[in-house]
Amino acid sequence: LGYRLADSPDVLSERELRRRLGETKTVGRTLHCFESVDSTNSYLKRIAAEGAPDGAVAVADEQTAGRGRRGRSFSSGPGRGVYLSEKILPLTALGAVAACDAVERTCGVRPQIKWTNDLVLNGKKLSGTLTELSLEGESGALQYAVIGIGVNCNNTLEDFPPELRDVATSLYLETGKRVQRAALAAALIEELDKLYAALQSGDTASYLTAYRRDCLTLGREVQLLWQNVKEKVTALDL
Ligand code: BTN
Repeated sequence: LGYRLADSPDVLSERELRRRLGETKTVGRTLHCFESVDSTNSYLKRIAAEGAPDGAVAVADEQTAGRGRRGRSFSSGPGRGVYLSEKILPLTALGAVAACDAVERTCGVRPQIKWTNDLVLNGKKLSGTLTELSLEGESGALQYAVIGIGVNCNNTLEDFPPELRDVATSLYLETGKRVQRAALAAALIEELDKLYAALQSGDTASYLTAYRRDCLTLGREVQLLWQNVKEKVTALDL
């Protein structure tokens, strides 16, 4: 009778993404998929400077120079995670809420958010976000913003550098199930598009309510890093 393909391979190609992606208003209408790229954020910043449309998205199977916050690197080996950046007007928190929604939709577990943008599952870091802005020198006007999100999907413990093994995790490690990364990336694009459309129509309440609900930082003692000041404070609200 021939063969039946029980499952599709976990490939992050444009074809696999488009197959799963519903109609979106802005985010993901322009899509750049890479087997390997230095950093999806750096790539989007390059094309944003040349006039890429609002909502343009870059997705990569591997980043050779993945970047994190405060100048740190972000471990981005091939075949394991989803590394995705989009050119969009702010806001940073919107990315975290969209990532929680996308993970819940595709994997059935809802991570929590650690201020500002880390997704945490069972106490370990699942995802990081790097938001970068470009301002016009003269007027200080915002030219564009790039939100880059990296989600650890099918990583085993050995895939993480030894110094990260106690603090990082993946969806596979927490749920025991392999993730179809194209399905997660498509869900992420759709959730970003939904929240972005709401934001453009003046509705900031939706994602802030979701952010507050998922945020594990509120009510806790945290370290405030502000210019040269380091201080212990309690996070009350955002
Ligand atoms: C952090 O945890 O410090 C932020 C990590 C952000 C990583 C993502 S992966 C996609 C995008 N491209 C990058 O080079 N960085 C972001």
